[in-house]
Amino acid sequence: MPIKAFLFDLDGVIVDTAVYHYQAWKRLANELGFDISEEFNERLKGVSRTESLDIILAHGGLTLPDEEKLELASQKNNWYLDLVSRMTAEDILPGVATFFSQVRKAGLQTALGSVSKNAPLILERIGMSAVFDAVIDGNKISKGKPDPEVFTKGAAELEVRPAECVVFEDAVAGVEAGKRGGMFVVGLGSPEVLTQADLVAPSLDVLTVDEVLTKANARP
Ligand code: G6P
Ligand code: MG
Repeated sequence: MPIKAFLFDLDGVIVDTAVYHYQAWKRLANELGFDISEEFNERLKGVSRTESLDIILAHGGLTLPDEEKLELASQKNNWYLDLVSRMTAEDILPGVATFFSQVRKAGLQTALGSVSKNAPLILERIGMSAVFDAVIDGNKISKGKPDPEVFTKGAAELEVRPAECVVFEDAVAGVEAGKRGGMFVVGLGSPEVLTQADLVAPSLDVLTVDEVLTKANARP
């Protein structure tokens, strides 16, 4: 089944907001009296806000009532929004613009598949709101990654089958979501971390659409 659509994660694939999520969570952990490392942060990538908080609290050995957790999640989000509000199109990751022009030339459809409830705001800040044929974000799904819902909904909205899609992901949970959804997955990051991906590259900057299509279309 030839590839018809590319589905992109947002944070860490299109724009480097992954680092802002990390900074905001680290600040929260520090205020609670412990720390989180960059290595620990890999577990949070692609995971929803509430689940990320649960993972962090468990790491710090804290159990808190739901109202307090809601407050902490909203505190983290405010810090995150503060960082995001300064973003512009300059924050789009290297290689994204070139890659998208190749995507268009190849006649492929595109969808955004992000668990973030802030995805529409970020797309607006970087001037990419009108780029995707479908946008599936945290406001449209009930299950976060590694559940495949965010990608299967994207494929459904584009009216293509999972086997006709390639997913681009920087997160372990996101790679798993794409694989569970029955898609070819390109991991952007380190092969030691993104072990489940079908193809791994450091970023979109070093990939061409032709190369991805050749590999994805040659899969068994
Ligand atoms: C993405 C990021 C995660 C983040 C999640 C929810 O998947 O990779 O780090 O926790 O979105 O984002 P939100 O903006 O809704 O808090
Ligand atoms: Mg990501």
